[in-house]
Amino acid sequence: MTVNELMNELFAWCKEEKPFELERTCDTLKCGSGDTELKKVVVTMHATAKLIKEAHEWGAQLIIVHEPTFYDHWEDKLENDPVTEAKTALLEKTGMAVWRFHDHPHKKAVDMIREGNCRALGLTGKIVDAGYYANVTLIPDQTVTVRQIAERFRDLGGDNVRVCGNQDAVCKRIALAFGTPGGVWESLRSPDVDLVLVGETCEWMLGEYARDAGDLGFNKALIILGHIVSEREGMKYLAEILQERYACQFETKYMECGEVYKTCR
Ligand SMILES: [Fe+2]
Ligand SMILES: [Fe+2]
Repeated sequence: MTVNELMNELFAWCKEEKPFELERTCDTLKCGSGDTELKKVVVTMHATAKLIKEAHEWGAQLIIVHEPTFYDHWEDKLENDPVTEAKTALLEKTGMAVWRFHDHPHKKAVDMIREGNCRALGLTGKIVDAGYYANVTLIPDQTVTVRQIAERFRDLGGDNVRVCGNQDAVCKRIALAFGTPGGVWESLRSPDVDLVLVGETCEWMLGEYARDAGDLGFNKALIILGHIVSEREGMKYLAEILQERYACQFETKYMECGEVYKTCR
């Protein structure tokens, strides 16, 4: 099976339950060749310089990423930029194919990233469209507090899980704003929403609103997970699916790129 064949199968899989068309998509081959035969596939959030080297040492031909490799959504490469040039040279040296898998998994009838997160967190309940951009809210069918959800993300390896607002709030409605979607501000202000889960956001605005809400006695909080932690379980879920479906054709590994932060302790 080639890189092209695998990615086309994955796109078709995303459309199985609910077909859709994308006018333009970032889910394209970023480097390497689509005709490369696959023996080993790495799934991760970001093809960082360190991860590219590790994937190459493991013997991978393809890295499937959720996020951009060249610091721009459409991967318009910076000109005359030494970091961009060094990363391009590293990729060329390894011959690695990098393919982004972002729009299709989010557009899937059940958003693959959300599904992976909810599975890993053990969160079940009813999903309701929040009406704000890509946001949805979850009405959990279990009693769960803000603190418990923060701790679950920490236990999944989140080293920078930050809570603004009331940690003891019982979550009757949780806005799932993984990554950096639009509509987070609207979700946070919605009187129905007790907790907003977001990858990254504006501290002086949303963080301070949640802090004041908590201090003023509202049942409200914002958890800022870090971008990678907020979507990683979705890509881990993809790696599991590939391991199951394609075990006879190639080996798959979720390789950890780690969080962008190094925390000073
Ligand atoms: Fe995403
Ligand atoms: Fe993202």
